[in-house]
Amino acid sequence: MSKQLILALSKGRILQETLPLLADAGITPVEDLGKSRKLLFDTNLSNVKLVVIRATDVPTYVQLGAADLGVAGKDVLLEHGAENLYEPLDLDIARCKLMTAGTAGEAPGRARRRVATKFVNVARRYYAEQGIQAEVIKLYGAMELAPIMNLADEIVDIVDTGNTLRANGMEPRELIAPISTRLVVNKASMTMKHAYIKPLIARLDEAVKKRQ
Ligand code: ATP
Ligand code: PRP
Ligand code: MG
Repeated sequence: MSKQLILALSKGRILQETLPLLADAGITPVEDLGKSRKLLFDTNLSNVKLVVIRATDVPTYVQLGAADLGVAGKDVLLEHGAENLYEPLDLDIARCKLMTAGTAGEAPGRARRRVATKFVNVARRYYAEQGIQAEVIKLYGAMELAPIMNLADEIVDIVDTGNTLRANGMEPRELIAPISTRLVVNKASMTMKHAYIKPLIARLDEAVKKRQ
């Protein structure tokens, strides 16, 4: 049985909150992740390596077994799909909400609503469940600009403080899902490397609870 564990971390805003949790669980990278152009890192534990990748790529790495474990936002998991993954732990970081939003004070008028989002699968599912006809328009960022430019009637995006919406004359409408960061595990790894993964999950669980 291989005892090598690869843990895929989301770069960006989740990374800074993930590292202290990992440290509490006994895992520290041997070099400063922020200062290096490297993508694969050794840790203080000889059998644990870290890869630092785009948040949206984490589920792919873990599903296909290139990484045994991963740290990803629930928004990313909902959009990507969680086939071949276990989600044993809510890491309780980067809490926010996945919501619909639109121009403040304006009701969505059209029979067929134009919805701009990077979460196209989540949006299609949500509007279908609500019985609302929607034309979903894929964007890669700055969703809040779409209604201003009359590209869309509504957006589906992450809302935390609501500052980005307000700054663009928009208001939150419906909650689609509360979001936080999750630990995910490849199903085969969970079976094959159970002896190494189980204690790691337990240590991370303790680190999370200590903060609550
Ligand atoms: P990329 O920059 O790679 O296109 P991204 O914008 O989704 O992707 P981040 O901004 O680093 O990357 O967000 C990572 C995760 O943090 C998201 O998947 C979500 O779970 C959470 N998140 C995003 N925005 C916020 C926010 N404003 N407040 C709290 N959590 C957030
Ligand atoms: C995220 C998200 C929203 C904003 C919500 O953007 O896409 O735009 O945060 O947070 P708020 O409600 O507190 O304003 P981010 O800062 O990650 O920028 P990005 O467009 O580069 O993802
Ligand atoms: Mg972002």
